[in-house]
Amino acid sequence: MTTTDNQLSNLHFEVDDNGVAMILLDRAGERMNTLGPDLAADLFSLLDRLETDSAIKAVVIGSAKPDNFLAGADIAWLRQVDDPAAAVDLLGEAHKGFQRLEDLAAKHGKPVVAAIHGPCLGGGMELALACSMRITSNDDAATQLGQPEVKLGIIPGAGGTQRLPRLIGIAAGLDLILTGRALRPRQALKLGLIDESVPKEFLLDIAKKRALETIGQPATDEGGFSFGKLKSWLSPAHLQGLALEDNPMGRKVLFSKAEEKLLAETKGNYPAPEAALRAIKAGAEHGIEAGYAAELDEFADLVASPQAKALMSIFFDSQDLKKDSGIDTKAKARPVSKVAVLGGGLMGGGIATVNTMKAKVSTRIKEVDDAGVARGLSYVSKHLARQVKRRRLHQRQADKAIKLVTGSTSWSGFGNTDLVIEAVFEDLDLKQSILAEVEGVVGDEVIFASNTSSLPITDIAAKAAHPERVIGMHYFSPVEKMPLLEIIVTDETADWVTATCVEFGKKQGKTVIVVNDGTGFYTTRVLAPYANEVYYLLQEGVRIEEIDKAMVAWGFPVGPVTLADEVGIDVGAKIGKIMEKAFGNRMAPPGGVDGLVTDDRKGRKNGRGFYKYEGGKKGDVDESVYAVLGIDSHKAMDRSAIQDRIGLQFINEAARCLEDGILRSARDGDVGAIFGLGFPPFTGGPFSYVDAQGADNIVAKLEALAEEHGPRFEPAQILRDHAAKGMKFRD
Ligand code: NAI
Repeated sequence: MTTTDNQLSNLHFEVDDNGVAMILLDRAGERMNTLGPDLAADLFSLLDRLETDSAIKAVVIGSAKPDNFLAGADIAWLRQVDDPAAAVDLLGEAHKGFQRLEDLAAKHGKPVVAAIHGPCLGGGMELALACSMRITSNDDAATQLGQPEVKLGIIPGAGGTQRLPRLIGIAAGLDLILTGRALRPRQALKLGLIDESVPKEFLLDIAKKRALETIGQPATDEGGFSFGKLKSWLSPAHLQGLALEDNPMGRKVLFSKAEEKLLAETKGNYPAPEAALRAIKAGAEHGIEAGYAAELDEFADLVASPQAKALMSIFFDSQDLKKDSGIDTKAKARPVSKVAVLGGGLMGGGIATVNTMKAKVSTRIKEVDDAGVARGLSYVSKHLARQVKRRRLHQRQADKAIKLVTGSTSWSGFGNTDLVIEAVFEDLDLKQSILAEVEGVVGDEVIFASNTSSLPITDIAAKAAHPERVIGMHYFSPVEKMPLLEIIVTDETADWVTATCVEFGKKQGKTVIVVNDGTGFYTTRVLAPYANEVYYLLQEGVRIEEIDKAMVAWGFPVGPVTLADEVGIDVGAKIGKIMEKAFGNRMAPPGGVDGLVTDDRKGRKNGRGFYKYEGGKKGDVDESVYAVLGIDSHKAMDRSAIQDRIGLQFINEAARCLEDGILRSARDGDVGAIFGLGFPPFTGGPFSYVDAQGADNIVAKLEALAEEHGPRFEPAQILRDHAAKGMKFRD
């Protein structure tokens, strides 16, 4: 006879005739399971019975939600934690609860099997680690395992920093915890993180079977570090070569290497991975109890830290944007099942790739000649092949995707197209004439989206018969990798058009912000003064590598001079002129830019830029560039002075974009800057940064810079207003 318990609102509990207690997590009122006080209380309330009821011989923990095991801690709850002591109390309870769960096998002979399908992350992973066995569904993209806490500025706080390294080895544990990356079942199996992966239809049955088979057997992991499973996180050859035995010397070397590598990566801007490292080290050196205590201490320091608040805020912003239709009316998105991509170059190829791979829609590329078509098609096929090679995609999925993309040099086969995305050269006349062609030959209700990086959409639509169906869809390069899509609407763009493009962008896997039209929209506009300031600094004699190093230390993924080479110095120069025309002197590119273009320095693409390129690889600074810029002497400048000059140009322009109504909200400004331009995530974005520093301090710095360097540093009025009223942009 089966017994059930109906008192629990966040899980289902049932004991079958064989004595297997089945716990299915099912957090009330939520689509996903997350671990907050309510679910934890229900789960831990069962422990007494699991321990003492002799009818219960084994336990299986699964989920009643489709495609979701336990996605992590309840971040909404964590985010509002202002008193770290409260979080630590709760985590202390979780430590005790998970220890009792672990002891069910070790002390009571009752195996506990985690049956995992869907995300098993953060607190979910920690629960699974406290079980005596982990079985996952296989071959299913929904199933991922990991400890992503550092991405939110915290560390695993319910035993993860101790149990994970004990299970899979210190180096592999460091890798997962310090990077926050998630594993697919196949990789997890290799590392020994899971015991088995099976088709999802049989998951619960097999979990029950394994539970019954292992009743009374000792737990497999008896503590101690499993160096046998070491996978190197840092430099694999080097670390494995160190023959890390279970000895203090080996561990010392491992931790000091990890620390060195970590600091090189984070520049000290991200305290969470450093804290995780300390907790793991404490456990390795002083035993598991000391490790648990260190984990709680470190967690308490982090949970209310500005970095954690900023990273959690960005996480919530991107969750919010998933639900945002991009419009204020109830206009409905229309289905998009056939897309035309005009231009099969770098951007067109990338857009066609996400269309077929992510959105899974039929896509037809139009180019000027056969070589152009071939370029576009091969971009897609090469990317798919790379994904298959990296095992991120199955061959049959790639085969299916490639069948969705075709190409042509004529308009044949473009009938019934729902959406045209143009990615031809950045030329207003060309874009207008292409739009006229589209209106002439493609269906009546087609949407025309431009991937222009700087031209106002209103100008592109100026001669359109149907300007209400013209919109901007601004992707970032490389399209397959960059998470942001900036959608640009004009006064005439119809709401259904915006809603349709927003929904389609989400299907392409993008985080979508909708901005109002204007030269450079949001992202290109903020980059312009940021890039210009680099030239001012160069003219003052600051060295290229010092500028790049300063901004990388500030938290950008690459320095602005490197970025200029990547984007193309010629492209930057062209956009600079467009920006100057629209915004006047404030945005005028400083001297030297034209000289670089005349010297045929385009950056990485032609191997001639600020840096040297050999065989496509970036080398040292090309010292000859200084002569081209007319610079013959150098001067040292404080790193923080460089950071203020370049960083505040970005931030001030972002504020102007909000003031001018280009941005719909400060939230979109934060997300766009981080996801599209690599603005340091730990700041939470430019607006959160202003809030953290205080608008009055930012205004004072800008005023001082304006005094010294001229009116291009005049603070935006909206910054002055916020400073005067002591207001924040985000709350
Ligand atoms: P690209 O030069 O790699 O590709 C442009 C393609 O358009 C070429 O293959 C060309 O043959 C084709 N083309 C030209 N006229 C055409 C026509 N009449 N019909 C069909 N195809 C035609 O340029 P890229 O980098 O892909 O840029 C395309 C657009 O995307 C530009 O407007 C650019 O400003 C914008 N963009 C570029 C970004 C980048 O990082 N490269 C980032 C965001 C936007």
